[in-house]
Amino acid sequence: MNDLSVANTATRKAFDVHAIRRDFPILSQQVNGKPLVYLDNGASAQKPTAVLDAMDRYYREMHSNVHRGAHTLGDRATTAFEGARETVRSFLNAPSTQEIIWTRGTTEAINLVANGLAPRLNAGDEILVSCMEHHANIVPWQMIAERTGAKVVPIQVTPEGELDLDSFNSLLNDRTRVLAITHVSNVLGTINPVVNMVKQAKARGIITLLDGAQAVPHFQPDVQALGCDFYVFSAHKLFGPTGIGVLYGKAALLEEMPPYQGGGEMIERVSFAGTTWNTLPYKFEAGTPAIAEAVGLGAAIDYVSRLDRKAMEAAENALLERANRLIETVPGMSVIGTAKLKVPVMSFKIEGLHPSDIGTLLDQQGIAIRTGHHCAMPLMDFYGVPGTARASFAFYNTLDEVDQLFTALQKIQRLFA
Ligand code: ALA
Repeated sequence: MNDLSVANTATRKAFDVHAIRRDFPILSQQVNGKPLVYLDNGASAQKPTAVLDAMDRYYREMHSNVHRGAHTLGDRATTAFEGARETVRSFLNAPSTQEIIWTRGTTEAINLVANGLAPRLNAGDEILVSCMEHHANIVPWQMIAERTGAKVVPIQVTPEGELDLDSFNSLLNDRTRVLAITHVSNVLGTINPVVNMVKQAKARGIITLLDGAQAVPHFQPDVQALGCDFYVFSAHKLFGPTGIGVLYGKAALLEEMPPYQGGGEMIERVSFAGTTWNTLPYKFEAGTPAIAEAVGLGAAIDYVSRLDRKAMEAAENALLERANRLIETVPGMSVIGTAKLKVPVMSFKIEGLHPSDIGTLLDQQGIAIRTGHHCAMPLMDFYGVPGTARASFAFYNTLDEVDQLFTALQKIQRLFA
């Protein structure tokens, strides 16, 4: 089968991807003499003009430090910065801005939680993660386990790339203290059944953290409906800037947790007799924060919120369906991760070709994908591969780009496999 010419006009009518692409200036350039086809959105997504302009305007018109200056610019910066926090709160449907902590990204947010929970952990306690976690949701727990004598226990994955719920059920026990799992797998694209898993864990008094880094670019999570204690994500995968991320945490737990870093904003009063902490959320925000980046994230959320969510999800599904239909046009190609519920992420191998060669050869044709272990070595071990090639799509990708990817893969397979 090779039907690269079929156009999905219905999807385009409902969702004008070409108009949307004009909002992302970086997408209209040539790379290696070819129009850029950017399919590495899982690693980092591109930024609309609305984000670039918001950050530029912030620096041109309102920059100063926040919560400090007794002057107009200080007020403007603080208003913009705290306004962005409110935008994040509303995006997540969190009850209060006290529960929205700025971090450098998902990784720092998980490290913060792991450190904050350390005082609750004792020798023999168990921290449940899964075999499909990004290293950022394994290593911080291993470091805390080392300190406390707790144990990190992995939930198994099925060959299709879904969480093995029998494994999950059999691992829940009286020693389980924390469940830390990804909402969506960065390698497989699997959307995990987190609502039920969180419910089961909460019924046993287990603290729950969801890694939303790969979920938020594709759908809007509702932390109250999810019921989790912590939800974390990075701005740069959500069409915002690098260097900033979000930790949502339930206030009662955040109150109990010790600060992560000392200095600046997180202080109430310092003396050599003893120091006291600021209230939430500032208790976890030591030092001058990433102010322009917070403003940029707020603008990214505003931008995405203006899109028709349903149409956007339908357009993304159409991209994945198109890619799935074309797999058999590339001899020796197979996909890792065939879960029923997926975001548009396709990890694959082609017999006779190393993933990094696939990446380099595609790049020569202007097509950007990621190759390697994707910071998920335990998952690579499970599938018995050193790495995969991964195309990860965003709502601004087109069906033509999917076709271009497969035309290029057919050519690479013919010439090099
Ligand atoms: N975690 C990012 C990815 O999956 C960097 O590519």
